[in-house]
Amino acid sequence: ALFKKTSKTIGLIVPDITNPFFPELVRAVEDVMNIYDYTVILCNSDEKTEKEKKYIEVLKQKYVDGIILTTNQLELEEVSEWNVPMVVLDRPLSHNYPSVIADNYGGARLATKHLYDIGCRKIAHIQGPSHVVNAMERFHGYRDEMMELGLWDERLVILGNYQLKKAKEAVIEALNKYDIDGIFAGNDAMAVGALKAVQQMGFRVPEDIAIIGYDGIPLTEMTTPELSTISQPIYDMGAIAARILIKQIEGKPLEKLHYVLPVELVVRQSTRRGE
Ligand code: RIB
Repeated sequence: ALFKKTSKTIGLIVPDITNPFFPELVRAVEDVMNIYDYTVILCNSDEKTEKEKKYIEVLKQKYVDGIILTTNQLELEEVSEWNVPMVVLDRPLSHNYPSVIADNYGGARLATKHLYDIGCRKIAHIQGPSHVVNAMERFHGYRDEMMELGLWDERLVILGNYQLKKAKEAVIEALNKYDIDGIFAGNDAMAVGALKAVQQMGFRVPEDIAIIGYDGIPLTEMTTPELSTISQPIYDMGAIAARILIKQIEGKPLEKLHYVLPVELVVRQSTRRGE
């Protein structure tokens, strides 16, 4: 009989463990994997293709039973060569692997419309890295909503990289050039950077400039003012991905191949005007 080598381990590749979105996701994967007696090997790729490739080699050498991938850097051919059960989590690949993501496009429209509803008309968007599919889906949601509202102005798109520091610098630069009364940041880390920039330049939040982020990480409740956000079901995303991977490893049928989970608007002080 053929002997299939198993190790009771799985690999989880994330792009940036310093981004507070990922610890919660990792926690969920680990919790579920523990129930089934699997150990999780965590790899942090720093969004670098070379690092991802290196980790994949190592994971293969360790005979992992499956991989959960939250990255966009890899070429499709490389991914299909792995020949291990795999689930794509949070950042969709244009590949037919099972996937668990949240409604990035819908969430971005919701955020933009919320800023409009509280009176903002010059709404800027801090975009995540352009190679990351969910960043582009959020950008498209923002753009379509702005077009429908008759407010679209491409100069109000600020390029970020999902990290706080760059967002802060980019917002300072944008505020020096343009009149902006609302900011929709593509993730919460960048919303924190935007808040710092706006306050440093002497504007009031939300009276002069309202800010909303994306993710729903606990940090958004710790800022002054507290930040509004589009909350993603981060824990559920990780837990569902882990369950799907287990099913694949055990050769069981999947009820569904692609999960798109709903997001929720959380309104806090940073977008509460005139109450
Ligand atoms: O916070 C960074 C982003 O990366 C999150 O919004 C999440 O969706 C991930 O892809």
